[in-house]
Amino acid sequence: MARPIVLDTDTGVDDALAICLAMRSHEIDVACITAVSGNIDVDYATANILRTLDAIEPNRRPPVARGAGRPLVREPVCADEVHGGDGLGGAHALTDDDGRPTYPPSDVPPAQDAAQDVILREIRERDGDITLVAVGPLTNIARCVQADPAAIGSVREIVVMGGVFDRPGNVSICAEFNIYADPHAAAIVFDCGAPITLFPLNVTEQVTLTRDAVNRHGNDGLGRFVRDITGHTMEFAAQYEDAQGMYVHDALTIAYLVDEGLFGFRDACVTIETSGDISAGLTAADLRDRPRFKDTPNARIALSVDAPRFLALFEDRVLRG
Ligand code: RIB
Ligand code: CA
Repeated sequence: MARPIVLDTDTGVDDALAICLAMRSHEIDVACITAVSGNIDVDYATANILRTLDAIEPNRRPPVARGAGRPLVREPVCADEVHGGDGLGGAHALTDDDGRPTYPPSDVPPAQDAAQDVILREIRERDGDITLVAVGPLTNIARCVQADPAAIGSVREIVVMGGVFDRPGNVSICAEFNIYADPHAAAIVFDCGAPITLFPLNVTEQVTLTRDAVNRHGNDGLGRFVRDITGHTMEFAAQYEDAQGMYVHDALTIAYLVDEGLFGFRDACVTIETSGDISAGLTAADLRDRPRFKDTPNARIALSVDAPRFLALFEDRVLRG
């Protein structure tokens, strides 16, 4: 029986790869995809989800709903240097030999209802038997907690891509982007009482999708879409991250729902710094073998992964698609 999920995303490039993996995995039933401001503004994120679904051509298209256009408190930030000005590595501007857009705006419109209403409806209709997967800032999920804490507390699990522990972040010396973009939302979600499984940079930066792997499958089908949207991020990664390729933070998080055995975990109490010019977005947890600060754990944190096994899964499910 496929596992029903809500996928909340600030569709950027690795988010699009996550959508591809989720939609191509029979273990997962994507009930809806919701957009949140983060990598790119929420209207672009919504349009990018729809374009990505057009590229995947799934048998059943989940509804796509527009969510929060800005964080709960802080000013909006974006990551267009990583994902391109359109959030899809410049794919909006690509044209075929005949001059027509390779990836035109989708003919399928987003849902009328706001993301928060769509998410809460899915939870209530399924009596909580659904997993919330958040691979962008947690603004939409936090708004759901504020609107109906009991509903959020009833869900099977909240799976989050975000945070970093005991090492520099990717948006500041202290913080990872998704948490940094809306630390107040993250604090609300980590305090909501639902089971949380967290995929921080500590694990997502153990895996690199190489340009070679992408190019091997870049001539047609979904592999061509992956090649077309990842070039910009590969260039960024070559300059600032791993010269061989790009991190696929969000797709790795989705792989947990396909094969939990890919990962090693540790339970811990995660707290979020919501203020401070330097420390805003910091995620704190005592991850030592003998933790001294033993507050009650509120999350299971993924700290190790079988990278070759993940890359083989991604190549099989997405690149060969
Ligand atoms: O820090 C990486 C995360 O921030 C990923 O989800 C990426 O898409 C951005 O949202
Ligand atoms: Ca993301």
